[in-house]
Amino acid sequence: MKTSTCVAATLAALMASSAAAEGVLNLYSSRHYDTDERLYSDFEEATGITINRIEGNADELLARMEAEGANSPADVLLTVDTSRLERAKDMGLLQSIDSAVLEQRLPGYVQDEDNQWFGFSQRARILFYDKTEVTDPPMTYQDLADPKYKGMICIRSSGNVYTQTITAALIEHLGEEAVKGWAEAVVANFARDPQGGDTDQLRGIVSGECDIAMSNTYYFGRAIRKPVDGVSDSLDMFGWVFPNQDDIGAHMNLSGGGVAVNAPNKENAIKFLEYLASDQAQGYFSAGNDEYPAVPGVGISPSVAQLGFFKPDDLDATAIANNIPTAQRVLNEAGWE
Ligand SMILES: [Fe+2]
Repeated sequence: MKTSTCVAATLAALMASSAAAEGVLNLYSSRHYDTDERLYSDFEEATGITINRIEGNADELLARMEAEGANSPADVLLTVDTSRLERAKDMGLLQSIDSAVLEQRLPGYVQDEDNQWFGFSQRARILFYDKTEVTDPPMTYQDLADPKYKGMICIRSSGNVYTQTITAALIEHLGEEAVKGWAEAVVANFARDPQGGDTDQLRGIVSGECDIAMSNTYYFGRAIRKPVDGVSDSLDMFGWVFPNQDDIGAHMNLSGGGVAVNAPNKENAIKFLEYLASDQAQGYFSAGNDEYPAVPGVGISPSVAQLGFFKPDDLDATAIANNIPTAQRVLNEAGWE
């Protein structure tokens, strides 16, 4: 096992000596954040490796990699949400890699058990509420089922990966039957049929359509950092809760990637993933997109820091991913649109 100084040396060597390294990296990415530009340009500058990008939505990219098969030029897949990383693995689109840098820098719970995918940034899925209307906000995910919140909740659809992943995590913690009952009670508390993205849930509070909403932290962080229609002008009306601070902690969603199964430039692919675990790259995830770095100890941006510190749920991402099919069935049976 390489010592930390050795790993640091490897990273430094990566950044310093590979400047002359030849070659390319074919990156398939469904991350749609402007700030990733700096991630890529810094890597190219530091390594001399040219990144060719194929960008699109996650499902299209997975289908494309599958269709391309053994001739796929893909080296790395980058995407958002644990369930999508696991789906890529289940489809046989990724390969196991051996990297002491990733092993040492990333906490175990964001690493696939077979080293086929790795989480590089995290987002907490938390509860926002209208401070004027709600004086006793839900403090746990379970509280969302309380009838006192009838007609007050905005939440995303069951077809959304964020909804599926948090439900899968709750199934791991509470069991399938308990979560089925929870989902039915939450459906009864909907202010409207699920619609829109996370930002639309926050807008629902501003418009008065609902008083409580579930959203990933970075959408609110973004509205703090830059103007977001329908949210940034009303930041003062929002209260927020990191749920379950006395037990399981707040659910963490991942953004990450892995090396493609037929990667023509495997060494460059591993170098790129190791770069994503560097302090520099980790800083961008937070500063650029209001996410939480996956590497412990890396600083977070002011907008993210404003949300406050909290206890994250460090449930193993692979366990969550394995529960996704059950979560989909439970949500459907509960009538969660
Ligand atoms: Fe998102």
